[in-house]
Amino acid sequence: MPTMRDVAAQARVSVATVSHVINGTRFVDPQTVDRVRNAIELLGYRPNSLARGLRRNETSIIGMLLPDNSNPFFGEIARAIEDVGFTEGYSVILCNSDGSEAKEAAYVDTLLSKQIDGIILISSGNNFAPLRLILDADVPCVVVDRELGGLPVDQVLIDNEQGGYLAGQYLTRLGHTHIGYIAGPNQLNLSAQRLTGFRRALDEAGVALPDEACVQGDFYYSGGADGMRELLRRDLGLTAIFAANDRMAVGALSVLHRAGLRVPHDVSIIGYDDIPLSSAIWPSLTTIAQPKVDMGQISISLLLERIKRREENLPPRRVLLPVRLVERESCRQHEERKSA
Ligand code: RIB
Repeated sequence: MPTMRDVAAQARVSVATVSHVINGTRFVDPQTVDRVRNAIELLGYRPNSLARGLRRNETSIIGMLLPDNSNPFFGEIARAIEDVGFTEGYSVILCNSDGSEAKEAAYVDTLLSKQIDGIILISSGNNFAPLRLILDADVPCVVVDRELGGLPVDQVLIDNEQGGYLAGQYLTRLGHTHIGYIAGPNQLNLSAQRLTGFRRALDEAGVALPDEACVQGDFYYSGGADGMRELLRRDLGLTAIFAANDRMAVGALSVLHRAGLRVPHDVSIIGYDDIPLSSAIWPSLTTIAQPKVDMGQISISLLLERIKRREENLPPRRVLLPVRLVERESCRQHEERKSA
């Protein structure tokens, strides 16, 4: 029974291009479309044919796509995946999309053309096209951290609303009522989830979060520093900051130090992720810890199980993991300043 790969070889195009021609998911020039259609007819390929049962798992290679390999958060997940994969006899190819949809698509094309046995995908954003390509090529896949809802695929996710809530509850219980927020990239669902939980905790404590106390971040150190500078410029009398990831919290810390503000005496700050740097800096960063090793181990285990039990066509599984507060030195009880 011819496979999508056989059609691609016959038409001298990538598997992804065959998928685009069949599904109309992207423009393909007419000449290429003709070549693909001629190949389909010549080989008698039937989309969604029984290729599933005839795919050959001969490479023992897993592909992993992540948005930023310079971020220790993803590094810890990748390390856990590679550890388990290698133990189980698989090599793991690590691809960095740099948060670029174009780069992400290019890497998916490359991985699909390399006969890999499965893919673990941490999406660059809310980009469904790469996942559709992977599923059309009938390659086992697990989505991690950034949910891509509505498609039949295993997902290993985090309860980000709980995380935002824990951060807000912690700061309000310390007595802070003037709190600032440095948000994650607004194209990510998890950014909205963290803000929703954070707002819920502040609402429960009767603490306002005015728009001017919120700035847009980007999950990079510089984004946290820029956000903190803007919040200081607005002169809101903030006594506590929640940064939606640790790298931005570290960037914000550096700005507070340079502005002559002591952490936590003048301003408390809490982050999110619990990357190794957070416990190494001074003051050490209080944060919401994500279970990065569990995320990696569970995702590779689900993928290998799906590969090995391919014929059973297992139903998609959705795993939601909790986060936890890690209290360190960067936050303290708020005391109203005594008037002079
Ligand atoms: O630090 C990178 C952020 O993006 C983390 O909070 C993680 O959730 C990832 O999606």
